Amino acid sequence: MPNLELTIKSTKKFQSLLLELAQTMGFMIKILSENRIYQIINEVTGKSIFLYNADLGMNSSSSLLAAKDKAATYGLMSHYGVPTIEHIQIDTGPDSDYISECTKYLQDWGKLVLKDNEGTQGRNVFLVEDQESLLIHLDVLKKRGKRICVSRFYDAELETRCIVYNGEVRIAFSKLRTNSWKHNLSQGAMPIPIQLNSPESAEIQHIAVSAAAAIGMQFCSIDIMETSCGPKVLEVNGTVLMNHYTKYSEAHKNQSLDLYREIFSDILE
Ligand SMILES: Nc1ncnc2c1ncn2[C@@H]1O[C@H](COP(=O)(O)OP(=O)(O)O)[C@@H](O)[C@H]1O
Ligand SMILES: [Mg+2]
Repeated sequence: MPNLELTIKSTKKFQSLLLELAQTMGFMIKILSENRIYQIINEVTGKSIFLYNADLGMNSSSSLLAAKDKAATYGLMSHYGVPTIEHIQIDTGPDSDYISECTKYLQDWGKLVLKDNEGTQGRNVFLVEDQESLLIHLDVLKKRGKRICVSRFYDAELETRCIVYNGEVRIAFSKLRTNSWKHNLSQGAMPIPIQLNSPESAEIQHIAVSAAAAIGMQFCSIDIMETSCGPKVLEVNGTVLMNHYTKYSEAHKNQSLDLYREIFSDILE
């Protein structure tokens, strides 16, 4: 067994955890590109996994691209009748009257969220309550060269993340906001586990499983906002990164590792 001599940056902690897990299961690890691309090999069966960071390559590239595109995800979920938060892409080209278009949404909805259509970790996500802030944030996003989408604002206390594997929710937790209006774990929200056998979580789990099926993903996380109009999908993540969840407690870490152990053995054995 080769020695795993990796200098994993702190941001890659979860990835190093996965590699450690694979190694303790007796699989060989090949570093194909320093700090990014790995192969996990079962030398007995000859089966292998190609890993890019923490992505195990379990979802198709078109599903991953669809999930990254918030407006497209909204369209897809709507097509399949999965309750979803509205995300509309805005054309900001030279011939477009995008300011009037966004102003109309602001008037209709009262409040809206302006975002980078392909953003992550809550970056470039702005709450807009008036015309002045609309103009400021449209300008910010345009100057940063981002594709813009507008989303109807829902005042939801809770956002729940469901990790779906093979058509079943395997881990679910609510994200409690702390020092931001956003529910991103990277912005300080706290993960509070949800019991999967509790009757109250049945509806959310059903939505998460339907969303994963709609986007055709085998392993993904689905974020669902608990709005006053019922639970609605906010976004789909095709790479399941549990770094914030695992560092929260030893129990959280073991829960995640158990799931990955199962996935590794499903793929490699
Ligand atoms: N339409 C919305 N209504 C209310 N809150 C929202 C809305 N869109 C985004 N948010 C808040 O902003 C956070 C980040 O938005 P999200 O669309 O998930 O982008 P990212 O992919 O960057 O995480 C969410 O966790 C949520 O708290
Ligand atoms: Mg998010």
